[in-house]
Amino acid sequence: MNICDKYKTELSAFLNVKKDAISLYWKGRVALYTALKSMGISKGDEVIIPAFTCVVVPNAIIYLGATPIYVDIEEQNLCTTKNLIEKKITHKTKCIVIQNMLGLSNEVDEIVLLAKKHGLYTIEDCTHGFGGKYNGLYNGLKSDCSFYSSQWNKPFSTGVGGILLVNNQNLKSQIELNNKNLSKPSNKSKLTLHLLILFRKYILKDWSYWFLLKLYRKLSMLGLVVGSSQKEEITGITIPNNYLISSSYVQAKFGLKELKQMHNKLSIRRENGLIYNEWMKKNNKYFIDEKYLDNHSFLKYPILVKDRDVFLTLAVKAKIQMGDWFISPLHPVKDNLSQWHLEKKNYPCAVKISQHILNLPSDVKNVNAILKFLNKNKAQIL
Ligand SMILES: Cc1ncc(COP(=O)(O)O)c(C=O)c1O
Repeated sequence: MNICDKYKTELSAFLNVKKDAISLYWKGRVALYTALKSMGISKGDEVIIPAFTCVVVPNAIIYLGATPIYVDIEEQNLCTTKNLIEKKITHKTKCIVIQNMLGLSNEVDEIVLLAKKHGLYTIEDCTHGFGGKYNGLYNGLKSDCSFYSSQWNKPFSTGVGGILLVNNQNLKSQIELNNKNLSKPSNKSKLTLHLLILFRKYILKDWSYWFLLKLYRKLSMLGLVVGSSQKEEITGITIPNNYLISSSYVQAKFGLKELKQMHNKLSIRRENGLIYNEWMKKNNKYFIDEKYLDNHSFLKYPILVKDRDVFLTLAVKAKIQMGDWFISPLHPVKDNLSQWHLEKKNYPCAVKISQHILNLPSDVKNVNAILKFLNKNKAQIL
C-alpha cells in the first residue's frame, strides 16, 4: 500500500467511514470545488453559504459560474440557522454549505432536513472541525459531502491539504471522474512544503511567531513559498493557474504522524477551551453557551475586543499567539466585497463580529500566561 493509500485508510478509520469515501487534495478549497462540480453546480445556480467565511468558499462557487448567496450568522455560535437559510432558498438554489466555525456547529440536522425537503444538496465545511463531534457524530458525517482542511493552524496540519468525504453514494463516481482531471503538485511545491513544515516544527517559537507569520504571509502573496492563498484568490474572482491540484506524499507523510496524536490533541484543545470559557463567563465577557460545547473541538477560542489593533499590539508585546482570523465577513478580504456578491449592510451580525473578533490558541500546553494576559487586559475585552 502506498503512503497516500495508508493516509486514506487512517483517515477513514478515524472517522469510521469507508476508505473509498475519502479523496485527497492540495487544499481544502479544491475539495469544495470538486464537491460542487460533482453535484453539477454551474452557471445560473445558487449556493447558500454563511456571510462569515473565508473568501475561498465563494470563490469555488464563482469559479463554476454559480452565485454565492449569503446568510447572516448568530452572535452566540458564529453559525447560521435553519430559519435564516430557509428565507434565502429560491428555485435556483442547488446546495447549502453548512459551516463549522472554529469548531462550533449549529442546527446541522435541521439544515440537512430542510435541504432534503427542498431537494437540495448539502456540504459541510469542516475545515475547522476535524475530530469534533456534533449530536454524537463526528463533524462531516451528516451532509452529502464534507470537506476538511489540514492547512497551518487547522485541527491537524500538513502545511496545506484538503480532504473530501462523500456520504452520498450517488456522487461518488462523478467525484472519482473529476479527481482524474487534477494536476499533480510540482516537485518545487512539494519540496517547499516539506521544508516549511520542518521549519515550523523546529524554528517557530513564541518569540518569533509574529515576525515569521508576517514574513510568511508576504512571501506567499508574492508566490515565493507554498501559501495558504495565491494573490489572485484574494484580489479577484478568476480561477488561478495551479488551483486544481491533487495531494502528495508530503501531506500523507505528515498527516499520518499527526493523526496518531489527534485524540490527545483534541483533549488538550477541549480542556483549554473550557478553561477560557469559564474565565469569560466568570468575568462577564462574551462566552460560548454550554449547549454548544458537547464534544466541541475548540480549534480556537473566539474572543471579542473593543479595539482589535490595540489588543493585537498588546498580545504581540506579551508574546501571546493571538489569532486574527475573520476580520471581515470574507476573510481576509476587507473591502470591495461586491465582486463576491456580498454587501456588508445586509449582514449586520457578521459585520459586527468581524470588527471585534480575535482568537485564543487552544493547543498550548499551559494557558496560565494567556489567562494572566487576559486578566491584565480585561477592560479591553467585550
Ligand atoms: C471556513 C473556511 N473554509 C474553507 C477554507 C479553505 O481551506 P483550505 O485553506 O485548506 O483551502 C478555510 C481556510 O482556512 C476556512 O477557514
